[in-house]
Amino acid sequence: MSASGKVELGALWSIVKTLADGKYHSGEDLGVQLGVSRAAVWKYLQRLEGLGIVMSSIKGRGYAIPGGLDLLDQHKIEALLECSIPLTVDVLPIVDSTNSFLMKQEGPSKRACFAEFQTAGRGRRGRNWISPMASNLYCSLGWSFEGGAAAVEGLSLALGVGIIRMLKKRSIFGVELKWPNDVLYQQKKLAGILIEMTGDPAGYCQVIIGVGLNISMHTGQAKNIDQPWVALASIMEEQGVPYISRNEWAAGLLTEMIAILSSYQDSGFAPYQDEWISLAAHRGLNVELLNGQTSIAGVMQGVTETGALQLLTDEGERRFYGGEVSLRGPQ
Ligand code: BTN
Repeated sequence: MSASGKVELGALWSIVKTLADGKYHSGEDLGVQLGVSRAAVWKYLQRLEGLGIVMSSIKGRGYAIPGGLDLLDQHKIEALLECSIPLTVDVLPIVDSTNSFLMKQEGPSKRACFAEFQTAGRGRRGRNWISPMASNLYCSLGWSFEGGAAAVEGLSLALGVGIIRMLKKRSIFGVELKWPNDVLYQQKKLAGILIEMTGDPAGYCQVIIGVGLNISMHTGQAKNIDQPWVALASIMEEQGVPYISRNEWAAGLLTEMIAILSSYQDSGFAPYQDEWISLAAHRGLNVELLNGQTSIAGVMQGVTETGALQLLTDEGERRFYGGEVSLRGPQ
């Protein structure tokens, strides 16, 4: 990023932090704080609106973000984290993708990163992950493994189980898994997991686990999402669960992921197999597995002890290691 781009980002972020309190701040005060004119402040506020932040302005009082923002805070996340390993946690205001950020880092292999906004969030199968500002969680965790791809077989499924464990501990129920690792509530997507690997595919490798978890998002921010989605805020309202801050969610998510990763090298997916099957959204249902140009119909049976999908097809039971599952016809 250019030096002027960095300055602009810094100014933008400084305004976000000031307006996060939900109170009105005059254009003049904001200008003094940033050392810029009121016209420049107005331009920054326009940019924030463009990023999906809802703004209110009242003549004579200034600008506010109604309801304020619940911003992430590295120290709060670290204080709430329940794990015994040393872990570096970065909280970035804006990044292209938290997965890409971690991939570029040198230093400790165990490292976590959150961002308030991703300009190029990535989903599975080349999709975008729409990442509006200061609303959801965009998290990546780096971990190293011996044994390459074989050692991490089923890991994304196990982490899906971890997300649901975290939700149940906070009294949120009815969340299910779609193979391999979509987290769904009433067939709408609540979270997704993207695992990327660098290093030796058969030996020592570094795995970057990216999780996008919808916490609270208004329809304007989600207008470019091309599939049914849901956010925790509405599930919590429906289930009468009191407010939980984004920092608590962030720490809870990391805690659960680290618990799974800490023993995965030795135990693999087998200890999570039964729990995954019990949480499967499509078990016993007619589904279609799409993989590139191929489509296979079958009844979803479960998953193997390495996380492969078991489908009962016209040719009998078959196992699959890649693809996208969707519901097929009337059940
Ligand atoms: C999916 O398609 O279901 C996976 C979505 C993964 C999104 C997360 S958000 C944090 C991390 N950074 C990215 O660019 N992607 C992952």
